[in-house]
Amino acid sequence: MCGIVGYVGGKEACDVLIEGLKRLEYRGYDSAGICIQRDGELSIDKCPGRIAVLSERIEGNEAIHGGTVGIAHTRWATHGEPNEVNAHPHTDGTKRIALVHNGIIENYSTLKTYLQDKGHVFESETDTEVLAHLIGEFHDDGDITLELAVQSALREVSGTYGIVVVSADEPGKIVAARKGSPLIIGVGKDEYVVASDASAIIEHTANVVYLNDNEMAVISRDGMRTMTIDNVPVTKEIEQIEWSLEQIAKDGFEHFMLKEIFEQPEVVRTSLSGRIDLREMRVQLGGLEHVSRELVRVRKLILTACGTAWHAALVGEYLFEDLARIPTEVEYASEFRYRNPIVDEGTAVVAISQSGETADTLAALQEARQKGALALGIVNVVGSTIARQTDAGVYLHAGPEIGVASTKAFTCQLVVETLMALMLGRRRFMSQASMERYLRGLSDIPDQIAEVLGQSDTIRQITGEYVGFDNWLFLGRGYNYPVALEGALKLKEISYIHAEGLPAAEMKHGPIALIHDGMPVVFVAPRCATYDKILSNIEEVRARKGKILAIATVGDEEIRKFADHVIYVPDCPAPLSPILTVVPLQLIAYHAAVARGCNVDKPRNLAKSVTVE
Ligand code: G6P
Repeated sequence: MCGIVGYVGGKEACDVLIEGLKRLEYRGYDSAGICIQRDGELSIDKCPGRIAVLSERIEGNEAIHGGTVGIAHTRWATHGEPNEVNAHPHTDGTKRIALVHNGIIENYSTLKTYLQDKGHVFESETDTEVLAHLIGEFHDDGDITLELAVQSALREVSGTYGIVVVSADEPGKIVAARKGSPLIIGVGKDEYVVASDASAIIEHTANVVYLNDNEMAVISRDGMRTMTIDNVPVTKEIEQIEWSLEQIAKDGFEHFMLKEIFEQPEVVRTSLSGRIDLREMRVQLGGLEHVSRELVRVRKLILTACGTAWHAALVGEYLFEDLARIPTEVEYASEFRYRNPIVDEGTAVVAISQSGETADTLAALQEARQKGALALGIVNVVGSTIARQTDAGVYLHAGPEIGVASTKAFTCQLVVETLMALMLGRRRFMSQASMERYLRGLSDIPDQIAEVLGQSDTIRQITGEYVGFDNWLFLGRGYNYPVALEGALKLKEISYIHAEGLPAAEMKHGPIALIHDGMPVVFVAPRCATYDKILSNIEEVRARKGKILAIATVGDEEIRKFADHVIYVPDCPAPLSPILTVVPLQLIAYHAAVARGCNVDKPRNLAKSVTVE
């Protein structure tokens, strides 16, 4: 997804900006650009493709060097194809104002017609250029400061934006504003770094100011003023980024994804820490305490999310119904808000999101709040928009997830859902003995994940036998049906192999037609209530000469009779099993992608954080 970096200070702005853009590369992008303000001029360079290309282009461009103020951007196309003209920064008609923008200006077409009638000529197909011209129109028309022109323009705009703007005529100043798209201001010594993501700031400072929706900042080397876009001054607190640069780096692993898969024992331990009381057999979730009474009484839970987080929500449906006996629905966030959902005061909506910035999830949450639901979040990024718009919530504490394919956030989402379900279950009806079994099971989980990871080489070898196949099936039942979906998604995302995930019994209602000689079918089949049923499903695949890769519970020798390969996971209570069974599937996807020569950390067409609808 698009990334923004802005700089004002004493350093060479171009170096800070390019370095910042590189830190944002993981978000996914298709073009990049930079604008330096120097000697009363703006110098812009931009191009499709990687930041390395931009960096090379600007090497010989004198005007880009030597300045100490500038803005830069990585674009992930929404309006118009990824090319040089559509890349940001965009300028107004006079080319004296430049801006970078994340988000979407929904009424850009109307604004464009209005501006064209006034004689404006546009070069690109983007909504962003329209905003640049609009700011320019107010600026020149009223002969006002850049910040006042930005305010006037933003009042005309509907949609979402995180923007940073510079003017050639107002040296040493940048203006930043946000609505619905994150913007963070790093406050250093005599310097400021504005970015859409903390990773671009952390190497300069841990002191940050988070802009809220409809707020803006006017920043120069000597200081910063913050206000609403209606020009009402706002006092902002300086907060601390919790993550270090070291946490963001690859740590010796070949890819971020592999590093994050291997971090799971540690992050799951962190996610559990301080939350399980084995003496009192209790779960403590500080972020939910002030709503706990309301929560225990809810009549319905709606879990809403996108992508991998949606799969975590599906597991959550099993957890909350099974362990807490609360009727639970799972909704794709993108569908939820448009289908007039039945939400009332007895409903709690839980938005699940790694980034806390996914536009659809945020919109679903806002919709639910408006309808009177208790709004909860299960979020990784502290201070993210979703985290700040909920009534209460639980952080994942998974650390920054850089790999585009979500792994450690998923397992931590399952951990947090389990903790919530146990907390509610115990307050509603769960016996002390059951609670104890689950809590002890949870405390063993980090070491058990490490045991699964120890089989990475074997999993690589097994995967290697099947990477030539372009179609895979992933099947599971009960708690492990969503895990099958997640396994298929992981494989698709990074190895571009087509894969389908299904509840195992559904296979015979259609997809069984796909099975042919040698086709890989992954069965997620730990020991559980439906174990015998899944053996029958395995037989059905064998009869059609499919190749069976089974994920099974350690000690299960029976399954060896049916499967071509077995990958074992340690024994644990069934509700916890997805936290273990997903790990081999993550490794299968990773090793398949590497074997097929795919760029694991930059999968094609994907974005880490999707901040447009
Ligand atoms: C994108 C990512 C997925 C992620 C989804 C939801 O599509 O590529 O990996 O699961 O967004 O992201 P969130 O940050 O809300 O969990």
